[in-house]
Amino acid sequence: MYKITVLPGDGIGPEVTAQATRVLAASGRRMGVEFCFREALIGGAAYDAAGHPLPEETLALCREGDAVLLGAVGGPKWDQLPVHLRPEVGALLPLRKKLGVYANLRPARVFPALAGASTLKPEVVSGLDILVVRELTGGLYFGEKKREDIPGGQRVTETLVYTTEEIRRVARRAFELAGKRRKKLTSVDKANVLESSRLWREVVTAMAVDYPDVAVNHMLVDNCAMQLVRNPRQFDVLLTENLFGDILSDQAAQLTGSLGMLPSASLGDGTALYEPIHGSAPDIAGRQLANPVAAILSGAMLLRYSCGLEEGAAAIENAVTAVLEQGYRTADIMEPGKRQVGTAEMGRLIAEL
Ligand code: NAI
Ligand code: MG
Repeated sequence: MYKITVLPGDGIGPEVTAQATRVLAASGRRMGVEFCFREALIGGAAYDAAGHPLPEETLALCREGDAVLLGAVGGPKWDQLPVHLRPEVGALLPLRKKLGVYANLRPARVFPALAGASTLKPEVVSGLDILVVRELTGGLYFGEKKREDIPGGQRVTETLVYTTEEIRRVARRAFELAGKRRKKLTSVDKANVLESSRLWREVVTAMAVDYPDVAVNHMLVDNCAMQLVRNPRQFDVLLTENLFGDILSDQAAQLTGSLGMLPSASLGDGTALYEPIHGSAPDIAGRQLANPVAAILSGAMLLRYSCGLEEGAAAIENAVTAVLEQGYRTADIMEPGKRQVGTAEMGRLIAEL
């Protein structure tokens, strides 16, 4: 039995996580595996009920479970709170840090049935299948910050810190993942300017000898941003540090044209965290308009990385492909001639395949 902590959160979070757990439960029944889902509060919902966006009980439940499935947090209702109480800053960053999930996996894949959804030409993106591996608990976002008054204004300092071991552990994940895919790893840095990037490149280069079947190349981040829109299919696994990864993973996601379709996994040495890449979408919350596929595919990643159930993960991914081939669409990916369905109906169709 696997204990899964479910954190529905705010906005469309509860609607999409409900479909993800429905699909996981159905998959478990087929495989003879039992999942025990335990819900806890996070984000604005937790602030309203308990005065803090990440209550201690939630963190404890996350730590003792086998995996965490998160919906999304935040919304206009909580935007005016002091920054440490705002759902995104007060819940997401500390949750990632406290679970020690240093490797963020963001697949960007174009489903054949949706090749027309991208803003790029179908011949540029069709068959696209990139996995961005972003370092998630170090670098600029977690470095010391300072703001001081100086004559004529203010002066701010942000600190970018990486250790050899922090680079090595996330690179190891990327090498291993590349070995199971098309065996190509592109490490992205700014080694012509940043000392942290020089260390990054040294560590990755030294590790490459241990993975002789993986072809490694290094790319400067500005060039990578260009290459992603010029010829994105050249990439298999992209490995990069926290800030670059934040930007490049969103850019890669947008190549597929469908925010509601993209999952993520955040892995460390303990409990892993799975969540759709989209936010709480307050503009469509509570109306059965949300696409649950990103959350459902996050559940597939959970089976793959936290339970070792590769067959179950692949079966869910195939069910998503099949339902799209059959012409079912949620509102965000609707096209003329297709059949529009709501959030729960999409979940049911995928669960039953
Ligand atoms: P968003 O991702 O929530 O929405 C952007 C646009 O995409 C909206 O028009 C929304 O309706 C649409 N959309 C998003 N997910 C969808 C889905 N599954 N199906 C159909 N349409 C979907 O980003 P936005 O609007 O910038 O942020 C809204 C709130 O979410 C903010 O409070 C923000 O801070 C928070 N947020 C939370 C994240 C998280 O919990 N990991 C990540 C990003 C934003
Ligand atoms: Mg981002």
